[in-house]
Amino acid sequence: MGEVKWTSEQMLAIKEKGENILVAAAAGSGKTAVLVERIINKIINEKIDIDKILVVTFTKAAASEMRGRILEAIYKEIEKNPKDTHLGQQVTLLSKANICTIDAFCLDIVKNNFFEIRYISKFKNSRRH
Ligand SMILES: Nc1ncnc2c1ncn2[C@@H]1O[C@H](COP(=O)(O)OP(=O)(O)O)[C@@H](O)[C@H]1O
Ligand SMILES: [Mg+2]
Repeated sequence: MGEVKWTSEQMLAIKEKGENILVAAAAGSGKTAVLVERIINKIINEKIDIDKILVVTFTKAAASEMRGRILEAIYKEIEKNPKDTHLGQQVTLLSKANICTIDAFCLDIVKNNFFEIRYISKFKNSRRH
């Protein structure tokens, strides 16, 4: 796909700052695309590292789709700006970025803080997903 011509509603959802945003739209209407673009804009304009952004989904399939589409978008930007070292770093950082299901994220919090909450760790050997 070439450059997307975003609709004005999509532009709003991509650019809006300092507010909580709820985007509700039909399947296939571009919600994931907008979210990926928001993330890419933050990486490029605000020089934020991808591993400082939390992206949570409901399903593992959605998390892996997000990771794939973010990687694809990063590569596309690298093609435009091959000398941008910050962009280049994002490919490596993506592997440790928090792009996961809400369940996996909550499980991580419990595992990493079970001391604090006096919870006996039964999670030692459980896999992250
Ligand atoms: N404004 C647009 N113009 C052209 N294609 C678009 C536009 N917005 C989204 N798309 C494309 O439509 C397809 C479905 O988008 P996606 O983000 O997967 O939708 P959703 O997450 O809402 O189901 C993708 O290929 C996406 O790139
Ligand atoms: Mg989607």
